[in-house]
Amino acid sequence: MKPLINKQKVVFFTGAGISAESGLETFRDSDGMWEKIDVMSVASTTGWQQNPGLVLDFFNQRRQKMLQAEPTAAHHAIAELQAKYDVVVITQNIDDLHERAGSRQVIHLHGSVLCGRSSVHADRLYPISEKGIQLGDLCEFGSQIRPNIVWFGESVQNMEEAKRHVIEAGTVVAIGTSLVVQPAAGLLRYARFHANKMLITLDVGSQVPFGFRWIRAKASECTHLIKSL
Ligand code: APR
Repeated sequence: MKPLINKQKVVFFTGAGISAESGLETFRDSDGMWEKIDVMSVASTTGWQQNPGLVLDFFNQRRQKMLQAEPTAAHHAIAELQAKYDVVVITQNIDDLHERAGSRQVIHLHGSVLCGRSSVHADRLYPISEKGIQLGDLCEFGSQIRPNIVWFGESVQNMEEAKRHVIEAGTVVAIGTSLVVQPAAGLLRYARFHANKMLITLDVGSQVPFGFRWIRAKASECTHLIKSL
């Protein structure tokens, strides 16, 4: 039995496009990260086993860029909506721009840049020093600390919790995602028939989910739509 729709709950599902105007690269645009780097060498368990130093360098560089980036008007508009609604952000991004804009309920599906984790016990998290994660940084079990990021082929984090919020939401807004990567993108299928559904993105790499109104624009050009929800 599905729960009743909660008109007070607004769920945002975000991807790399919402952080593009913060100066952070997306993945699949023509100038995207995966056009320049072999994704499996830096974002898969195979890549980690073959060359952990390369993976750590890639992560440390991205982490530095993310910590120096600033939230955009879209991140702030979402945070400001908390004055009117119960706002939950479900993000595929590993940056902390939603949190730094003031969003209090942020669910990361693909991990976070803010901490490292044991490479043998996924639930053991560790702070990362200014230097980033280095080879030889060991967890309490003596294993190498790794980025707390979900690599291709690993299970996505927090999916059941994220699904519950989408099912309950009176409004679901997806921003800055190509909707290519599963199972994350599949969450939008759980948005209710009578919920208000909107997709704000420049391009979609797959079908626009049923019932979603596609606004082909930059996130920063749509803050009025977010504020008027
Ligand atoms: N405003 C809105 N949308 C934008 C903007 C912008 N300023 N700039 C780019 N976009 C759109 C692009 O058109 C594209 O549809 O954002 C989307 C980014 O898509 P991807 O690069 O595929 O990023 P994302 O959907 O977040 O990828 C999902 O793939 O590689 C994995 O783990 C990685 O979390 C990531 C996942």
